[in-house]
Amino acid sequence: MNVLVVGSGGREHALCWAIARSANCDRLYCAPGNAGIARVAECVDIQAGNLTGLVEFAKRGRIDFVVVGPEAPLVAGLVDRLERAGITAFGPSAAAAGIEGSKTLMKDLCAKYDIPTAAFESFDECDAAKEYIRARGAPIVVKADGLAAGKGVILCRNLNEAFAAIDHIMTERSFGGAGDNVVVEEFLHGEEASFFALVDGTTALPLVSAQDHKPAFDGDEGPNTGGMGAYTPAPVMTPDLQERVMREIIQPTVAGMAAEGMPYKGVLFAGLMIGPDGDPKLLEYNARFGDPECQAMMLRLKSDALEMLLACAEGRLDEISVEWHDATALIVVMATNGYPGAYRKGSEIGGLERAEAVDGVTVFHAGTRADGDLILADGGRVLGVTALADDVAEARNRAYAAVDRIDWPNGFCRRDIGWRALRRA
Ligand code: AMP
Ligand code: GLY
Repeated sequence: MNVLVVGSGGREHALCWAIARSANCDRLYCAPGNAGIARVAECVDIQAGNLTGLVEFAKRGRIDFVVVGPEAPLVAGLVDRLERAGITAFGPSAAAAGIEGSKTLMKDLCAKYDIPTAAFESFDECDAAKEYIRARGAPIVVKADGLAAGKGVILCRNLNEAFAAIDHIMTERSFGGAGDNVVVEEFLHGEEASFFALVDGTTALPLVSAQDHKPAFDGDEGPNTGGMGAYTPAPVMTPDLQERVMREIIQPTVAGMAAEGMPYKGVLFAGLMIGPDGDPKLLEYNARFGDPECQAMMLRLKSDALEMLLACAEGRLDEISVEWHDATALIVVMATNGYPGAYRKGSEIGGLERAEAVDGVTVFHAGTRADGDLILADGGRVLGVTALADDVAEARNRAYAAVDRIDWPNGFCRRDIGWRALRRA
């Protein structure tokens, strides 16, 4: 079959890399893709936000199946439009993607279906929000309702920070319409973990756990990023805990979304806080694979990725099982100096082949472009140096051995990816 993957990050490179290995994949396209993706798929120059262009291309190019990577086209309704055009697509409808696109929707679902999450209240009015903050005290968390490129969550240590956060979101409208409503919620303590499940509207199939590293610098210092590294599995997610997360969080969500008339289809990415008492609580949902988590996941996946995604889109999850290598995959993200702030594009990257010669290593591209034979940095997060090994210590050794072979003076990475897992090992 002919497949189109939508997106241009490391997540989409990993998805293309995995799908290209399927015996069932004839032609593989990626829109818009990047220099690394071009090695495994035909890149098509249509941006992920150009919904009309993507649907037209899928019709003209006889695409049988579209896999949507990022959240923005999901929230904008790409899957709805493809399905109306008779094309099978992986990902939730616009309504169901609201589980990521609207924190109010997600929190109301939790309240109605008894899904454990931080205590909260939603507001569309600034004074009422501040009143609530005064009554609850600090620390407290203020969240813009809509998509805010990962910046809409403000952790407030004291009341002044919380009032300033409300002004920032609601009065100064720093995130535009995403700040029409805010969620104010309890500050949760514990260890964060990610959990992924495939959902086809009715059946939920657990995939794997992972842990991300959001702050830019070693020791979890510096500003938050899209994620500077990850590994799967996350040792904190024991089989017992995974079973509880499925029963207490994922399954009631799937049933609730169906009951609300917006059945969820696609990958459900739960951001969890495992409290000091060992109880899991839902921090947030994402309606897509995590990035960089997906890159580590695809390296660990033993089953046919195309079959797995297609079974999900076609409502056949009850007929399949998914197998994983009994190993750890760890990814170190290399980013352009300056990221997540301002950075320069176009610096040259060398040594990629030597890096991939390290046993168990695959280098996914997150933001690159080719200029003749040269590979140039073309974004904030640029490379995902990903390694598979028997345990987390060896996966980390391999990933950093590969990083050290990359010649890119204008790039940086964290040197402590995996510290939580290593502490437990
Ligand atoms: P989100 O964009 O919702 O994933 O939030 C970004 C980050 O903020 C999360 O990964 C957590 O580290 C932190 N966070 C979000 N909500 C809470 C909360 N209620 N308590 C403590 N930390 C939180
Ligand atoms: N790495 C976290 C995310 O994809 O949202």
